[in-house]
Amino acid sequence: MNNSRHKGPHKPGPRAARIGDMLRVDHAGEYGAVAIYRGQRAVFEHLPHKAHTARLLKDMEEGEAHHLQTFDRLLAERKVRPTLLTPFWNAAGFGLGAATALMGEKAAMACTEAVEDVIEKHYAEQIEELGDSEPQLRETVRQFREDELEHKHKAEGEGAREAPGYRLLSAAIRLGCRAAIRIAEKV
Ligand SMILES: [Fe+2]
Ligand SMILES: [Fe+2]
Repeated sequence: MNNSRHKGPHKPGPRAARIGDMLRVDHAGEYGAVAIYRGQRAVFEHLPHKAHTARLLKDMEEGEAHHLQTFDRLLAERKVRPTLLTPFWNAAGFGLGAATALMGEKAAMACTEAVEDVIEKHYAEQIEELGDSEPQLRETVRQFREDELEHKHKAEGEGAREAPGYRLLSAAIRLGCRAAIRIAEKV
């Protein structure tokens, strides 16, 4: 006799549960990314001489909004609950975006570079983990990873690495993002 009857009728199998965790963390990450760009834009938007940066951030935010909508839909389709920390990611993302923007354009770009680098690598790991299962989801993640790489390269092109205290700032943001990923997989 297998033990399926002890699991209850609605409990997903280990594979579906793992995909659920993946989607939950991706959704939380994109949610946080939208908030970061909103926080940065809130600072630059009202400064006429920062129009170029504000426009760039708006473009990237639109990309993140598309990613977020996609994961919203996938969560609903697969009946995966979103992270319980949504208000926290929103506040933390907005705060990180606004704080780095207040430090200047290059610090804002260093933040983008660090965040996008962590997300891009996270997506690369997922692509590998998905392997040949879930070809549609794998293709979605592959496309989004390309977008994040583009965001990262744009930030580098805008002088991310010339930000004052770049190494420390970048390392701290990467550490925070990696911790956020571990938390959002489960909570
Ligand atoms: Fe994204
Ligand atoms: Fe991005």
